[in-house]
Order: sequence, then C-alpha cells, then structure tokens
Amino acid sequence: MRELKAAVVGCGWMGANHARIYADMNGVDLVAVADKVIERAAEVAKRHKAKAYSSAKELFEREVPDVVSIAVPSKFHKDVALEAMDYCKNVLVEKPIAVNSSDAKKIIDEAKRKNVRLMVGHIERFNPAVVELKKQIESGRIGRVFLVEVQRIGPFPSRIEDSGVTIDLAVHDIDILNYLFNEPVKKVFAFTGRKIHPNSEDLLTATLQFDSMVAVLNVNWLTPTKIRKLFVTGEKGMFTVNYLTQDLYFYENASIREGIDYPEMIMGIAEGNMIKLRVEKKEPLKVELDAFIESIRRNSRAPNNPEDALKAIATVEKIIESAKKGQVV
Ligand SMILES: NC(=O)c1ccc[n+]([C@@H]2O[C@H](COP(=O)([O-])OP(=O)(O)OC[C@H]3O[C@@H](n4cnc5c(N)ncnc54)[C@H](O)[C@@H]3O)[C@@H](O)[C@H]2O)c1
Repeated sequence: MRELKAAVVGCGWMGANHARIYADMNGVDLVAVADKVIERAAEVAKRHKAKAYSSAKELFEREVPDVVSIAVPSKFHKDVALEAMDYCKNVLVEKPIAVNSSDAKKIIDEAKRKNVRLMVGHIERFNPAVVELKKQIESGRIGRVFLVEVQRIGPFPSRIEDSGVTIDLAVHDIDILNYLFNEPVKKVFAFTGRKIHPNSEDLLTATLQFDSMVAVLNVNWLTPTKIRKLFVTGEKGMFTVNYLTQDLYFYENASIREGIDYPEMIMGIAEGNMIKLRVEKKEPLKVELDAFIESIRRNSRAPNNPEDALKAIATVEKIIESAKKGQVV
C-alpha cells in the first residue's frame, strides 16, 4: 500500500485535530501543515514531526501532498480551496463549504473542472449514532416521520468571529436532515437574535417545512451547557440521538389497550418500551477522514457529495432571509 502524503492548512482548533488523525493513520504520512500564524503551524508540526509553513501557497510550492484538509475560518474556504485545487487532487474543506452559495458553487465547479476529489467536512454524517439512526429509519422501524426537532445549544466560543450560529452550527443539522430524509425544504420561518456575539446572530429558532414532515431547529451560543440532540417523531414512536454521547434511543408507541382507566393513564402506563440501540462509539472526525482516505485508495467518489453541502448553504440563506424579512420564505 502506497503511503499517502497529507497536509493541513489552518492549525487552529479543528486543523490540529485533522493533523493528529492523519499523523496517527496507517498508510498516511502527515508531511506538512500551514497557518498564517507560523507559531501555530510550528507547534502542530513539532507534535507530529511534520514541516511548518506560514501559508498554503508556501506549503504547496514545497510539498506535494496527496490529500489536504482545509480548516481555516469559513470566510477563507473559497480562496484557500481554489488555491489548493491547483496543486492537490484530494481536497477536504471543513464545514460549511463556504459562507454563501456563490462561493460554494465556485469551489464545486472548480473541483469538477480540475477533476479534484472534493469532500466537505459534514462530520455528523460520520457520527455512529446518526449512521445507525439512518439505518433504523430506512428499515421502517418508525414508519412515516412527522416531526424532527433539533437542539444544538451551548456557550459562545469566542474564537468564532466571522460566522453566525446559522451557518456555523445549524448547518450541521440542516445537512443531517438532507442526509436522513433527502427531501427539499419547501418553506422556512425563522427568528434570529444577536445577544452577545460581536457581529452575527447567536440565537436561532426556525421551522422548516418539507413535503412529508416538519423540522424545528433550536440553535444558540447562549446556553451555559452544551447540548446536541435530535428527536425524530413518527408513526411508530420516537428516536432520540445525543450527538455528543452517541446514544440512540427508540421510544415505542404504546399499543393502547381498551378500557385503560384514568389512574393507569396518569401513571404513564400508556407509554411503550424505551429501547437503547447498540451503537459502537467512534470519533466522528476519524471515521470521516478514514472514509475520505479510503475513497482515494479505491479511486471512488468522496463519501459525501459536495452538492449536498451547497444545498445546506441554500437552506442557511433561506433561514437568514426569513429572519430578516420576518416572513415565511
Ligand atoms: N466539523 C466540525 O465539527 C467543526 C468544528 C469546529 C470548526 N469547524 C470548521 O473548521 C474551520 C476552522 O475552525 P476552527 O474552530 O478550527 O477555527 P480557529 O480559529 O481555531 O482556527 C483557524 C486557523 O486558521 C488560521 N488561518 C486563518 N486564515 C488562514 C489562511 N488564509 N491560511 C492559513 N491559515 C489561516 C488561523 O490563524 C487559525 O489558526 C471553520 O470552517 C469551522 O467551521 C468544524
């Protein structure tokens, strides 16, 4: 097996994790990292015995990586991704693909034109609890789905200055809705607020209407504890996913007996079984990067389609438009 050379551009919080995973991966050699703050690149490079550069350009002029992860702030994704595609045939751009659909399209078009394998880091698709949830839904266990509710709330990470909570956080769940149900969003009604963020919205509530179901998003950077949960309610019961602990439960609908009396009902006897489904816990970023490397080795398509990342941005834009206008869009 030929050893693949990997590089990472952007050595902040997420880039350092990409570097760690490539460095630990069998058959992959983390050759170089870059950050415009050279001390950050140097620190990550030293940890993994790689080379450090102060820009993507410098890195690409001196190294020939087979694969590169781009983990710079989202507003720079377009420029760095376009530059990377001049040199590298396998490019992974962190989520969101870009900060607007026009930039996202440019990245996707360029990847097609240059025949570059492009993947967008929609990490929750690789969360084992979400993967199992998809299997369960497809097996028909819950029947028709009526309602999806999302909670992605927690404190404000002050390093995020360039993005609002919709494009930075809600984009995860918007992508998961597409991954699980593959239905276009028909209508959106959203409310956003800016309470403590210096530039952008840090509070979002949105209702998304699909043909067959409705989704309600509750996303913010204001809650003092981190909660990442998904509730899927359908004909035969409800699934709950805790993205953080990777726990997946199924609450079965009760088969309502004839003649149930009031004391039984208030004691909860009308509830069905609650089943904890087996999920083998794994680090989602490791699963994601393993899948990307595997697609390179097999010469197959990237494990998720960049067009889906573009769809997620289009929904983000609808949400922002609805919140601005105070109208359903
Ligand atoms: N998949 C996930 O769960 C997840 C989690 C966190 C962040 N992210 C994404 O990862 C990206 C980075 O986020 P972060 O939290 O690591 O940010 P960060 O601020 O911690 O790190 C970004 C780094 O990029 C460097 N940088 C900025 N412009 C650069 C350029 N042009 N060239 C080289 N380096 C440059 C900065 O100096 C900084 O070290 C964002 O797009 C974010 O949305 C994804």
